[in-house]
Amino acid sequence: MSNDAFRAAMSHLASGVVLLTAHEPPLDPDDPGAPLGENAGMTATAFLSVSLDPPLVLVSLREGSRMDDLLDEQPLWAVSVLSESQRHIAGRFAMKGRLSDRLLFEDLPYVPGPLTGAPLVGGALATLECRTERRVPAGDHTLVIGRVLNTEVPGAQAGPLTYYRGRYRQLG
Ligand SMILES: Cc1cc2nc3c(=O)[nH]c(=O)nc-3n(C[C@H](O)[C@H](O)[C@H](O)COP(=O)(O)O)c2cc1C
Repeated sequence: MSNDAFRAAMSHLASGVVLLTAHEPPLDPDDPGAPLGENAGMTATAFLSVSLDPPLVLVSLREGSRMDDLLDEQPLWAVSVLSESQRHIAGRFAMKGRLSDRLLFEDLPYVPGPLTGAPLVGGALATLECRTERRVPAGDHTLVIGRVLNTEVPGAQAGPLTYYRGRYRQLG
């Protein structure tokens, strides 16, 4: 079984696209004057609903990626479900370490989640704030299972952004 064959088969599974976000903890939690940590974000399609009671979701993170390391340090994060008009956001947050976090978020409309401090993207179809319940190593990824603390569905009229056979698509 080659990597290419596996990738090719999985590329036929159409998925929604989310932006996973978190806010770094302060650099020195004991010093109120210490600089605040920055926002971090990563485009993901490996995101799914796991359980209704309690409400649990799962995201799969490449082991050792910036987001995997950050969520190993602190348990609060958020997911913004992207709309078809937010393809540029997905592209921007899928780039590997090209831009500093500050530049990535500079012109992005977002509010800090009230329960997590993680950025919730304006214009997203839905947002979920989560706290990690379990981390499960799985091959070269870490499965992060989170309890959903809060959701918002702003009621945007746009359709979902989807990813299928290596390209962003709109439904229909
Ligand atoms: C459409 C799309 C979906 C992605 N889904 C995931 C995912 O579910 N999990 C993941 O770890 N990386 C995923 N990636 C890759 C990350 O977005 C990208 O590697 C990450 O931003 C780079 O962070 P790093 O510099 O820490 O590696 C996806 C990329 C794209 C373009």
